[in-house]
Amino acid sequence: MDFIQYEVKGAVGIITISREKALNALNSKVLEELDAALDAVNLEEVRCLILTGAGEKSFVAGADIGEMSTLTKAEGEAFGKKGNDVFRKLETFPIPVIAAINGFALGGGCEISMSCDMRICSDNAIFGQPEVGLGITPGFGGTQRLARLVGAGMAKQMIYTARNIKAPEALRIGLVNAVYTQEELMPAAEKLAATIAKNAPIAVRNCKKAINDGLEADMDDAIVIEEKLFGDCFESEDQKYGMAFFLDKNKEKVKEPFQNK
Ligand code: CAA
Repeated sequence: MDFIQYEVKGAVGIITISREKALNALNSKVLEELDAALDAVNLEEVRCLILTGAGEKSFVAGADIGEMSTLTKAEGEAFGKKGNDVFRKLETFPIPVIAAINGFALGGGCEISMSCDMRICSDNAIFGQPEVGLGITPGFGGTQRLARLVGAGMAKQMIYTARNIKAPEALRIGLVNAVYTQEELMPAAEKLAATIAKNAPIAVRNCKKAINDGLEADMDDAIVIEEKLFGDCFESEDQKYGMAFFLDKNKEKVKEPFQNK
């Protein structure tokens, strides 16, 4: 692939969007490669993903403005769908995805981070939805996910003003969970991912599905979604092992890794 790097460290997969000369802006090729990279993740081996950008300046500086500049109405809609389909794949990916935001997260960059399960960033990160300054709306889910994450009032302010915000403000409004120095960011992301990866994988995956699906349902339906996914766990060997380990009073024994079964 030209624009996506992928490496696996233990049970953690790291996807790096790598188009540094354009600050990792998302053109069609980047989106297609990201889609293919997600399809290629080995879910037997990898239990948590990290998504980041190449270089020290930018996570993703948005959708590619050069590519968008000549689109017709129909092509614009198709480009929006192309991004939305990949971002939705990321959002509903079976295992958790952590966005490690190492600089600019503008437009499509902010949007792709919001398709991840959680966001942590470096202290030089800058977030924003600058689209109305370019004569367009956010097109890769920004009008929907930003409002759901930080509330409609703050989302509308960010989107209507096209004003960027820095890492401390992103933390204050709940757009990111934590801010680190640039050097600390990837180690922190890997530590967070490894902590998640140590837990029972089927249970973690079911939690993701329960939270995501439940947020789209009313509470009566949402708790039924949880009941079913909770029930499913009792068919797993990891549940039997995890509970037996707790109930065994032998303090000398060492907890084995979960088997993903
Ligand atoms: N698309 C295409 N190219 C981009 C880009 C983008 N979104 N962002 C940066 N680049 C390119 C620049 O054109 C420049 O290329 P050249 O060296 O060939 O001239 C290179 O990356 C470096 O950028 P700058 O020289 O501009 O770097 P800077 O440090 O002066 O500024 C920046 C950095 C503030 C991020 C600035 O590049 C910028 O404002 N970028 C655009 C951000 C933006 O508006 N993003 C939203 C796009 S719209 C969108 O995403 C729609 C959607 O929802 C789907």
